[in-house]
Amino acid sequence: MKIQDTLHLKAPGNWLNDPNGFIFYKGEYHLFYQHFPYAPVWGTMHWGHAVSKDLIHWEHQRIALVPTKEYDQNGIFSGSALEKDGALYLYYSAVRYVEHEDENIHIAKDENYVTSQAMIISEDGYHFDNWNKKKQIIPVSTDPGIADAVHTRDPKVWKSGDTYYMILGSTVSEETARIAFYKSKDALHWEYANQYRDQNYGNIVECPDLFRIEGQYVFLGSPMNIQSDECGYAHHAVCAIAEFHEETCELKLPQKYSFVDYGMDLYAPQTTTDAKGRRVMIAWMRMPEPVEEAEDDRDTWNGQMCAPRVVEVKNGRICFRMHPEVDRYFSKEAEKINGSDNCFPYRVKTRLCPGEELNIGGYKIRAEADCIQTDRSAVFPGDVHGCMQSRTPELNGKYDLDIIVDRNLIEIFVNDGQYVLSNVVYHLKDTIDGKAEKIYVHK
Ligand code: FRU
Repeated sequence: MKIQDTLHLKAPGNWLNDPNGFIFYKGEYHLFYQHFPYAPVWGTMHWGHAVSKDLIHWEHQRIALVPTKEYDQNGIFSGSALEKDGALYLYYSAVRYVEHEDENIHIAKDENYVTSQAMIISEDGYHFDNWNKKKQIIPVSTDPGIADAVHTRDPKVWKSGDTYYMILGSTVSEETARIAFYKSKDALHWEYANQYRDQNYGNIVECPDLFRIEGQYVFLGSPMNIQSDECGYAHHAVCAIAEFHEETCELKLPQKYSFVDYGMDLYAPQTTTDAKGRRVMIAWMRMPEPVEEAEDDRDTWNGQMCAPRVVEVKNGRICFRMHPEVDRYFSKEAEKINGSDNCFPYRVKTRLCPGEELNIGGYKIRAEADCIQTDRSAVFPGDVHGCMQSRTPELNGKYDLDIIVDRNLIEIFVNDGQYVLSNVVYHLKDTIDGKAEKIYVHK
């Protein structure tokens, strides 16, 4: 039987990072992901693959993309999907190490590797001929004025009018963030169009995404080294309202960005349009340690996806709301959680007053100093990287919480998606203390 996941996609075992190739194609959602199939650590990247009819129930498929070519022998890095003439086009970054570590062939020695952009065409979204259907579309950059030979990656492709656009994350000398644009008329042959440089967005940008919501462009990206990593991570997913001119591929980003999620575990989000035309986002939740005692038969795993979120722009602000399918999934009200290890996942809705606290299985949520503040120190390993405390920006006195609680992830939607704060947790208890006004479970 195929391994299944509900709500939060994990690898069927071993390692998962970024979502890739997220698309609603021929009536089903396909979600690929960065996958190392041999151990619960990062290594030579493959694309794992799962399919869903509702964004909630995922069925794992065979590994879709594997290294087969000289240019992608050391990794199929992140990328995106497009439907064209009924076929599924997948775009990815192809990695070739110039030198690898002596004791670990899965890691490039001294970052000595090169990256090109490649694609593969599948006729049905289930079969991927890794030997005959791949094509290198943008060679390794030889012009540092255009792009970096090492750090240029994560093609996100879309169509507007009769033109295809590709946005890539890159860097100028590993000092300044750079975002590069390519254009194509047939989705196969690509020409460099323009670029944007900005020190405000870290020293390298990963996984850029650019899309329109009601006429307005929204940028999502994962800039590197925007925070000190003393507590937690240095790289974070951000969002901003953007200006973009299709003709010239000229991008303008504001000086100030927001975080996609204020728990600071979320990274590398990717969006697509769902069956109803909404902009839906899924992202990787970084985990400092693998989960060994999996609740099903799966192997030890590390990395999971957040639940799908709808991206909206309200009064000039970007919000991430709970996806209607998630809302529908948790529509049965319960008196209490069933107080056993299989109570997960469930949902709590509540409104906190200043100073009030809710304790979900050891994870503390508090309204304090006009923010929602959380503390996971009782449900997180103490000796690893990762912030114990998180907080939203100020909320003007309104603290409506809609919380999804799963065994290894808590996602708090504050004021209907004004902010979201999500945290990875371990060994969560099956208790709720404090003000939990309503509890919902799956029907
Ligand atoms: C982001 C990222 C991408 C890259 C992939 C490699 O987490 O570093 O930029 O394509 O992961 O696994």
